[in-house]
Amino acid sequence: MARHQHAVIWTRLTGLPQKMGDLVLTDDRASFTYTQDYLASGQPGFCLLGDGAIWGGDSVTYPISERIPVFPRLLALIPGNNPRNLQRRHYLDLLRARLGKEPPPGIDTEWLLLLMGGHGGIGHIDVFEGDLAAEAWYRHAMHGNGEHVAVTHTDRSELWRMLKHNVLDENVDFDPQLVEQTLGPTPSVGGMIPKLLVAIDSAQPATGFYPPGTQGKRDVVLKVEPPEYHGLLDLEALCLDVHRAAGFTVPAYHRFDDDELHFLAVERFDRVDGRPLPMESLFSVIATGDHHFRETGDILLEELGDVLGRLAEVVTLPADTGEQVYRRILMALLTGNGDLHLDNLALLGGIQDCRLAPVYDPSPMRAWPRHNLVSAIPFDPSGYQDHGDYFVVLGKRFGLSPKQTQHCIDESLHATTTYAEQVMALTRVPVRQRQQLQDIVNKERSLLQRHSK
Ligand SMILES: Nc1ncnc2c1ncn2[C@@H]1O[C@H](COP(=O)(O)OP(=O)(O)OP(=O)(O)O)[C@@H](O)[C@H]1O
Ligand SMILES: [Mg+2]
Repeated sequence: MARHQHAVIWTRLTGLPQKMGDLVLTDDRASFTYTQDYLASGQPGFCLLGDGAIWGGDSVTYPISERIPVFPRLLALIPGNNPRNLQRRHYLDLLRARLGKEPPPGIDTEWLLLLMGGHGGIGHIDVFEGDLAAEAWYRHAMHGNGEHVAVTHTDRSELWRMLKHNVLDENVDFDPQLVEQTLGPTPSVGGMIPKLLVAIDSAQPATGFYPPGTQGKRDVVLKVEPPEYHGLLDLEALCLDVHRAAGFTVPAYHRFDDDELHFLAVERFDRVDGRPLPMESLFSVIATGDHHFRETGDILLEELGDVLGRLAEVVTLPADTGEQVYRRILMALLTGNGDLHLDNLALLGGIQDCRLAPVYDPSPMRAWPRHNLVSAIPFDPSGYQDHGDYFVVLGKRFGLSPKQTQHCIDESLHATTTYAEQVMALTRVPVRQRQQLQDIVNKERSLLQRHSK
């Protein structure tokens, strides 16, 4: 395919659809130019470091690569590249039918996936192939006055068959047309666990799913437990509770089972009264600012505090952001969550009102041997007695005094005092996983407790 591709970005930030600007992809770079009207509106840009207040009428540019083939912020709008991603399966089926052959792996296919599923996802930006496609999509999703259309809920049995086929690998047939007709193509969303962006009736979550934005329903990230992580959603729900009790802002969730399917519906915090909020992962912010950064492993944990400090020179961030990230790192350590990577930390809001997003995805993945990493963001404990010492000294790198650091450690230890027992009480989690997690968190506790009085 000749590479000089064009797309547009729109947003519903104000409640009404508005064009933000034009996106162009060439062989080696992505560029984005705001419309004059959008710049004049003073609304947040398509990503924090690509904001119109910084770039004005100049095109924002980014050197693309195999690893990051579009602006980093747009990666979250391309379905995750793993076999369980429901949206990737669905859009590849559509592409296969359209092209009459297997879509070739590579940037061109990723771009087509972005155009097909890159609207209505997490955050405030919607990508389309052109303005007409944008207008048609918003017309379908909303009335002219900005009110969402009430849509009937999806025939549960058809959707259940789709999930059993795609998540449980059961040999059941389903009609993708029927699922799409009632639910619409569900927008792309990242992450490893199969999930759908839908709305539910929070009083009776299992009764049916509605398209996102349906009036009177709650927008959720609906996770569906894959069989290879039996019990994961119970562990994730427990960790959401533990974080809430420790004083973190945590979204409401609904944990329910139906048939052999297990669900965790986490209420979305990137929507307020049906309007989207800007949301961008730390991965995206860092990659946009540093073109050498291509993956989570390209930064060390001890550098994160400096990164936040530099960011605070450009965007308004609450003064305790570094401390809050440090506290999350300690909680991850003490709950056995080795998967706190840079897509599991995000910022909400624009450059003038930026703050950490609530806690999401705190799953204690270390329960599974292949995820048993102390930290997904690498760190360098050489020069320390062990990593316990490292995590204590780390407080300083987030701008904390020894006393403040100690306070964070004491509170995190306190908040997780009975965590191992709570894990052992989760009967749906295989005993092996529970025991592994118990051993891990007990070891991590004892490493940090040496420093507590
Ligand atoms: N409650 C929420 N509100 C808004 N956005 C959310 C919410 N929960 C998750 N997200 C977004 O959806 C993405 C995927 O969700 P999540 O991280 O929970 O999935 P996962 O499959 O467990 O991810 P991972 O691959 O990190 O294990 C997140 O990176 C975040 O952008
Ligand atoms: Mg995640």
